[in-house]
Amino acid sequence: MKMIDPQELPPAQVYRYMVGAIGPRPIALVATCSADGERNLAPFSFFNVFSPNPPVVGFSPCRRGRDKTLKDTYHNLVATQECTVQVVTFDMAEQVNIASTEFDASVDEFQKSGLTPLPSDLVTPPRVQESPFQMECRLQQMIPLGDQAISGNLALCEVIRMHVDESILVDGLINPHRIDVVGRNGQNFYTRASGDAIFEVPRPAARTAVGYEHIPQALKDSQLLTAHHLTQLALFPELPSEKTVKTWKEGMRVSSPVAAEVAPVLWEELKQNKDYQKLFQLILQTDPSPLLTDELECVVQLAVDAHDIEFAWKAIACCSQT
Ligand SMILES: Cc1cc2nc3c(=O)[nH]c(=O)nc-3n(C[C@H](O)[C@H](O)[C@H](O)COP(=O)(O)O)c2cc1C
Repeated sequence: MKMIDPQELPPAQVYRYMVGAIGPRPIALVATCSADGERNLAPFSFFNVFSPNPPVVGFSPCRRGRDKTLKDTYHNLVATQECTVQVVTFDMAEQVNIASTEFDASVDEFQKSGLTPLPSDLVTPPRVQESPFQMECRLQQMIPLGDQAISGNLALCEVIRMHVDESILVDGLINPHRIDVVGRNGQNFYTRASGDAIFEVPRPAARTAVGYEHIPQALKDSQLLTAHHLTQLALFPELPSEKTVKTWKEGMRVSSPVAAEVAPVLWEELKQNKDYQKLFQLILQTDPSPLLTDELECVVQLAVDAHDIEFAWKAIACCSQT
């Protein structure tokens, strides 16, 4: 690994490493008004949700790199304490990019970008009609993070009203494919959060988990089992007790032993059928006190693929018992 001490690099290079690695970042499209009522619109990808109760979002209008001056969004927010924050969709990305131009403070980025201002209910800055999720916000805290070029200023804003386009809802929840937001990576790269880019990882169901530390090393080193298989084992709520495993093992044993010459053929056939239960019975028949082997890895793989994690753990426990 290349070792980097940020204090020994020019800030612009530190910035490039950070934004290259920490991404995709959500993008806030922030509308503000100056004390004189002039509209301003700019995107900020140093952005996230920080509290649902109270609902607080944060974004960081940094100081300009060329002269350390503060951006219009910062000035307007501090002066008026109000903004609207909207998410950025794939369809809006290029217009939003226009709004990021360092125009003079008097220039209206709504006009320049062609994005449509929509009156807000509770704050003066308008919302952006093209965004399917718009938030009316009040500044809660502005936290300066430095006074140098590209130093950040963390604007924490309380969301006082949200507007959701109903077409992005499925069963009352925002559907990622419908909202079709984009994220910012380093350089000029963006990520479109839809299609194959979206996948699900269900949250652990229980408040306990066996954990990686109980997975035998031989399985962790396995070429067959992936991080997914190991994670499913680790997430299982608890190890089966010794007594449970003993009884289960007796039940799994079938009386008539399989002849040595038939076993390999049968093994292949059962494997083709993904019949991990019979495969394990075969292991027990051919070897009265089996150890962790390639065969067990195969059984564990098939059992986990079939979401039968309990079976996988019992099989592992059988083979770990002395
Ligand atoms: C997608 C995108 C994300 C950006 N994120 C940030 C950011 O997090 N912080 C920042 O200071 N500037 C960011 N910028 C640059 C600002 O949008 C740009 O400096 C803008 O002119 C600021 O406008 P203002 O002076 O009207 O506030 C980003 C630009 C783009 C295109």
